[in-house]
Amino acid sequence: MRLPIERNQECPFDPPAGLRGLPPMARLEMADGHLGWLATTMAAARTVLGDPRFSARQELKHTAMHVARPGGPARPAPPGFFAATDPPEHTRYRRLLTGQFTLRRMRLLEPRIEQIAADHLDAMAKAGPPVDLVTAYALPIPSLVICELLGVPYADHDFFQDRSAALVAPDGDGAQATADLTAYLGELVRRKRVEPGDDLISGLTGELTDEELTYVALILLVAGHETTANMLALGVFALLKEGLPFEEGPVEAAVEELLRWLSILHQGAPSRAALEDVEVAGELVRKGETVALSLPVINRDGAVFEDPDVLRLDRADARRHLAFGHGVHQCLGQQLARNELRIGYRALFERFPGLRLAVPAAEVPLKHDASVYGVRCLPVTWPTID
Ligand code: HEM
Repeated sequence: MRLPIERNQECPFDPPAGLRGLPPMARLEMADGHLGWLATTMAAARTVLGDPRFSARQELKHTAMHVARPGGPARPAPPGFFAATDPPEHTRYRRLLTGQFTLRRMRLLEPRIEQIAADHLDAMAKAGPPVDLVTAYALPIPSLVICELLGVPYADHDFFQDRSAALVAPDGDGAQATADLTAYLGELVRRKRVEPGDDLISGLTGELTDEELTYVALILLVAGHETTANMLALGVFALLKEGLPFEEGPVEAAVEELLRWLSILHQGAPSRAALEDVEVAGELVRKGETVALSLPVINRDGAVFEDPDVLRLDRADARRHLAFGHGVHQCLGQQLARNELRIGYRALFERFPGLRLAVPAAEVPLKHDASVYGVRCLPVTWPTID
C-alpha cells in the first residue's frame, strides 16, 4: 500500500478512507520503493516512539510522502538540527533547550502573544470583511512569536515574516527562503554574542557554536511556524463548518480536542528507522526498515477515545492524543503552541462573535498534498455596524 493522502471531501477533517480498518502495523511502500510500515494505533505508535531501538536520524529514514519529496534517504542533519538526532547527542541539545523553554519565559510571552493577536485583529477590523484569515492572522502570529522567542529585532520583523511565509507557501521557493533565513539567523547569532538580550539565542551562546545555534534557531522556526499557523486556520474552519461555538466548555480542553481531531501532521510523520529487529504489535520490524505513523488514524483510535470521530470540545481525555508526539522527541514547543492556540482562537471569536465563512465550505481549498495539513486560504466575514 502507498500512503493515501486525500481526506474525505464531505468531512475534510476525517482521515483518508483508505486508512480505515488497517491492522496496527500495516505494510507501506515509501516514496523510493522501500517497503516499510505504517503504525495505525496509539499502542503501536507509543512503542515505536518510546523505544531507543528506533532512530530519528533522517539519513536512515525513508519518506512516506509520494508527492513532495520523492527519492531516497536524506543527508545527515547539520550540527544543531537536533530533531533528527538520537541520544546521547539529542539528549545534550534537548537539555539545553528545555532549560530555555521555562515556565517564566512562556509566561512572559503570553502578553506578547495577546498583543500580537490584538494588533492583527485591529488590522482586520480596519480592512473590513471579507478577509483571508491565513494571511491576516494565522501565519503572522506564530512567525512573530518566534521573533520574540529568538530576540529578532523589531526592524527585521517584516523580513522575517515575509521569508517564513515563503518557506511554507505551496508554490513559493522554499529552498531560497531556507537559504535566506539560515543566512539571517547566522548573522543574528553573531550579533547576540556581542550584544546579548533576554532571549533564547543569547541564553545559549555560552554552550553552543554559531553553526549549532543557527540550526537550533532554524529548527524552532521550521517546527513552530507552519504547524501552529495551520492549526489556527484549520481549527477556525472546523469550528465554523461544524457550527460549534468556541466558548463552549473550557478553552484548554477545546484546544486539545482540535489538536486530536484535526491531526495536521498527516503524511506519515513522525517516522523512525529500526536500528535492529524489533517486534511491534506482533509484527517483526527488520533492522533498516522505516516505520511511519498515521496521526490522523492514531488520534481517532477507538480503543482510547469514545466516539473518536466526533468533535467534542469538552472531551475530558482529549489530551491523550499524540499530536505532539511521544518519547524523547515529544514536541519541545507544545506549551507555547497551546498558548498561541488558546489566545489566538479566543481573541478572534471575542472580537468577531459573528464570524462566518465568506464562501461555501466546499470551496475552501485544502492542502491534501502538503506535509502539514491545513487550508490554503480561509475567506471569512462578519457583520459590521454600518
Ligand atoms: C517536535 C508537533 C508546535 C518545536 C514535534 C513533534 C511533533 C510536533 C509531532 C515530534 C516529532 C518527532 O517525534 O519526530 C507540533 C504541533 C505544533 C507544534 C502539532 C503546533 C500545533 C511547535 C512550536 C515549537 C515546536 C510552537 C517551537 C517554537 C518543536 C521542536 C521539536 C518538535 C524543536 C523537536 C523536538 C526534539 O526532537 O527533541 N512537534 N509542534 N513545535 N517541535 Fe513541535
